[in-house]
Amino acid sequence: MKRSFEIAVIPGDGTGPEVIAEGIKVLNAASSRFGFSLNFNNFDFGGDRYLRTGEILPDSAIDDMRKYDAIYLGAIGHPDVKPGILEKGILLRLRFELDQYVNLRPVKLYPGVECPLKDKGPEHIDFVVVRENTEGLYAGAGGVLKKGTPDEVAVQESINTRKGVERCIRYAFEYCKKRHKMNKLTLCGKTNVLTYAFDLWERTFYEVAKEYQEIEANYAHVDAITMWFVKNPEWFDVIVTDNMFGDIITDLGAMIQGGMGIAAGGNINPEGVSMFEPIGGSAPKYKGKNIINPLAAICAGGMMLEHLGEDKAGKIIEKAVMEVTGKHIKSLAAGKMGFSTTEVGDLVANYVSKL
Ligand code: IPM
Ligand code: MN
Repeated sequence: MKRSFEIAVIPGDGTGPEVIAEGIKVLNAASSRFGFSLNFNNFDFGGDRYLRTGEILPDSAIDDMRKYDAIYLGAIGHPDVKPGILEKGILLRLRFELDQYVNLRPVKLYPGVECPLKDKGPEHIDFVVVRENTEGLYAGAGGVLKKGTPDEVAVQESINTRKGVERCIRYAFEYCKKRHKMNKLTLCGKTNVLTYAFDLWERTFYEVAKEYQEIEANYAHVDAITMWFVKNPEWFDVIVTDNMFGDIITDLGAMIQGGMGIAAGGNINPEGVSMFEPIGGSAPKYKGKNIINPLAAICAGGMMLEHLGEDKAGKIIEKAVMEVTGKHIKSLAAGKMGFSTTEVGDLVANYVSKL
């Protein structure tokens, strides 16, 4: 089995570089302990480069990325750049062109982490959202007519292809089977209103479900799901949904697991190059202060190792994070952890070496 990996690192904007530095510290601790090797190569894509050169992503970037075993991304988003330019030009472009068709987002409440839900603890919040990552409302289909006039028409269409929907659903069933927790997969949709798109999703879902008799396949409307995330999060095991709903419900998911400081995700192309990132933004107001929480980036690094086949190392990183949330840091919020960014990275790296 291959045990030497080339990683493209895009630290990005704001606090991205600070959290990625801690992630790399922890990844290095894991690689020395478990005897595999990681070679990191930095790319300076992001707001500063764009403001300096006018270039969002060089033409060669996508092909460069294809040569790597994985991509480790900090955050994209700069206060001096109009919203949308960097997000679409870097993050979404990488997801789309590298065909990372699944956005995998675990929602897990770690010990010691304050949960905003009354009477809910780690035993209640542990599920995973499989978000379709290349289609839906994100596909960019549509246009505008008579812009800026009283007759303006704006159309933005949700693109759902049988192929795109099916591969995402298949991934979710396989993931649910491998996870082997409740063996329950929930399709999150809106079949009562979006009767074309989610009809395709629902038919495909129940067709594929026939191949997975051991998995309980059920359906819930997205609005009801947001209600149950708050009321009964313990009902969920794995959820599969489209791009837009997945975007929205995973922010809610991040809040019930303690906040953006801990929420990590992977943009997965099972046959290609995948990209791992903390799901929060670049938090520019905390930049350079050494107070941002690096745990989400560290968890994303752990996910990356599992994806690369270094399961044990990935699991140890998660365990180390749980030690740190359970025994050390006071809060996940920037500036309130009781430790600096680099100290939190040291704590996790130490557990990774010793656990
Ligand atoms: C996310 C983010 C992105 C998205 C933005 C930054 C384009 O919110 O990763 O969830 O909408 O997918
Ligand atoms: Mn989002």
